[in-house]
Formats: sequence, structure tokens, C-alpha cells
Amino acid sequence: MLTGKQIVIGVTGGIAAYRAAELVRLFVKAGAQVHVVMTSAATEFVTPLTFQTLSGNPVHIDLFNLISEREIGHITLADRADVIVVAPCTANLVGKIASGLADNLLTTTIMATRAPVLLVPAMNSNMWDNPIYQSNQARLVEWGYHFVEPVSGLLACGWQGKGKMAEPEDVFEETVRLLAPADLAGETILMTAGPTREELDPVRYLSNYSSGKMGYALARAARRRGARVILVSGPTCLEPPGGVTFIKVTSAEQMRKAVLENLSQCSVVIKAAAVADYRPAERAMRKIKKGKQEQMQLNLVKNPDILAEIGKAKKGQLVVGFAAETHDLEAHALRKLESKDLDLIVANDVSRPQAGFEVDTNLVRLYYRNGESEQWPLMNKFEVADRLLDCVIRLRCSTPVQREEGQ
Ligand code: CTP
Repeated sequence: MLTGKQIVIGVTGGIAAYRAAELVRLFVKAGAQVHVVMTSAATEFVTPLTFQTLSGNPVHIDLFNLISEREIGHITLADRADVIVVAPCTANLVGKIASGLADNLLTTTIMATRAPVLLVPAMNSNMWDNPIYQSNQARLVEWGYHFVEPVSGLLACGWQGKGKMAEPEDVFEETVRLLAPADLAGETILMTAGPTREELDPVRYLSNYSSGKMGYALARAARRRGARVILVSGPTCLEPPGGVTFIKVTSAEQMRKAVLENLSQCSVVIKAAAVADYRPAERAMRKIKKGKQEQMQLNLVKNPDILAEIGKAKKGQLVVGFAAETHDLEAHALRKLESKDLDLIVANDVSRPQAGFEVDTNLVRLYYRNGESEQWPLMNKFEVADRLLDCVIRLRCSTPVQREEGQ
């Protein structure tokens, strides 16, 4: 994913310095070339050897080291970087950058770069609240520096409050977003994902095998590419991607309400959720007890077809549906494309072992409203997501959206 990218990671002197090791590992695993620059205070917390071993590159510390300055000086690092990430970033470093100070290798590299700079502060909660720190951060944001703010928790100094370094996975995600083309900037995309659960009684429900992986991959990819994303999700085991508006639902009725409430502010709808078509006619208030009878009939009623309702209610939005089939894929997909008034339908044969529910890969065929169709090879769901978003961008160029007044 980050193959060919050059990432400079600055590590400053804070107890969270050890968490930068995990961040380096994530970037290296994603294929990036990582160059670590440590302040001398950082070396009091973690040895340079740790970062050298994880990154596979020499670690840079001292601005005035003649050998390393000749081989790769601060200007080379600044020029080479596709992005500079400082994690953890002390209040001191934020203050120095905001004041234009360039007194060590890290601050000089930051001063000299044209690459985006992402700062990941970690500090005591009182330092975080200090108006001097806050005004320094605000100035840097104004100048185009990016931040992943700290989270609340028990701090190393014993205080409870905001100041803990954000999770390395969240810093990774934000970095990927900075590196991705912002070709979906300006779009608001409503995604649905996962299954719905239709409750029978307090301990049982009807549902399906959808894991939510495809919808979450789409939400993550769209967010990385600059879209505002509203993810309406049925129950899954997945962590919602950072930066998306997440609406958790359980039943088809709840999903319908959340989708229709948000439809008017969206330019694109992608409906990857596997909605239960029927629900129990009645939900028992107490657990249904096993009787003497050998058979039992469930009385079911039809759920609303959310996608068909979107098809009727849409005002220029581009609408993409999914079709999970086990047979007659083309006929069923084309019927859904037409009857739900979609612009595009992504059909997959869920009976195939590497496609559809639960697995990380998908094998899909796309059917467009103009009669075109394309078969894609087996890909992981992140690749499918990115390629599908390419199609969305192409189609959006010819589909103007009419937002409701005031939105
Ligand atoms: N869908 C929906 N509301 C429903 C059923 C389906 O919004 N009550 C959406 C799904 O999110 C998906 C598309 O419609 O984008 C097709 O879903 P699928 O389950 O494949 O088809 P159904 O319309 O339910 O038809 P069938 O179950 O007969 O295949």
C-alpha cells in the first residue's frame, strides 16, 4: 500500500517514544521506506538500535554529525520525505516549530521540507490544556501542519486526562490519508455495511453471514481519498475506520431510518449491507421456551427494501448497490439494477469460497445502467474498494447532485 513512499519519522523525548517503534513497524509492513530522526532526548527513552533494526535504515540524531550529514543531511531528508510524522511530539517541539526554531536535525528537517507534516502530541494533561501550547498548535494548524490529537486515559505521570499518544494504527491511518490522492474531496458518501439482526426474543435473532469487511474497506478507502463518510453499520466485530461518522444499528428498520435521515446531505450512496429481507412478525418480550411440539413455525413479515426506497427518494445522488447471489448472477443483478433504480450494481457469487461473506477477498462483476459490465479478477476487499471508488468518480463526473436547500 505504501510501496515506494519515503516516510521520515521524528521521535522526541517522551515516555511514549516506545510506541513509535510500533508505528515504524506498521509503515515498514505496508512497504514504505522509513527514516527515523531522533532528538537526543528521545535516545534517553529508546535506543536508536531499536529503530535502526525495525526500519532497516540508519537512525539520524545529531545535526552536526559530519559523516551522516555528508551521506544524508537534513536537506536530503527533507527533500526525500513524502511525509514527515513526529510521534510522539512534545510540547517543546510544537513550540519550537511554531516559533520558527531550527536547532536540531528534526526541527531543521521539518523547517526545510515541502512534504506534509503530521504531529502526534503526547504530554501531561495540564501541559495539553496550557493556552500557550494550544495557541502554538492552532498556529501550526493554520499554517497547514496536521495533527492527530492525544486521547484521554491514565498518563505515565499518574494524571488522568487528555495527553496519551493516539494509537499507532490511527496515526498510520491518518498518514495514509495524507499520502492518498484527495480525489473524493467534496463528496459525502453514505455507506452501509454488515448484516442486520432481526430479534425473535431477548436471546435470539435472524441474521446472515455478512462480516462487514467490504463496507468497512469502502468507508476506509473513501475517507483516505478525502470524502466525508457516513457509515451506517449493522453489528460486526470490526473497528470503525477513524474519521468517519459512524452510526451503529441493529435491525433493518433502524438502518432504513439512519439511511433516509442522512440521504439528503450525500452525493453518493453505496449499499454494501446484507439486509435481512424478513423479520419476525412479533418479538417476544421473554425468552421463547421449548414446547412439547416437534416442529415450530416462525411467522415473518417483509422488511422495507431500503435501497429501493433510496432509488425513489434520491435527488441526483449516485447510487451503488451490491447483489449477493448463489445462482443466475447476471439475471438477478440486472433485475436489481433496474428495479431499485441504481447507477451501478456490484454482483458477487457468495457460494464461491474466495468471494462474498466473511473472507478478505472478493470476486465481483459490475453492471452499469448503460448496459456495460465488467468482470474483475479476484482481489482483496481493499483493492475492490479502491477500484470501485475509481468507478464512482468516473460516474460522478456525469451525475450532478441536487442537495436540499441549506445543506
Ligand atoms: N437491500 C436493501 N434492503 C433490503 C434488502 C436489500 O437495501 N431489505 C440492498 C442491499 O444492501 C444490497 C441490494 O439491496 O445493496 C441487494 O441486496 P440482496 O440481498 O442481494 O438482494 P435483495 O433485494 O434482498 O433480493 P434477494 O434477497 O431476493 O436476492
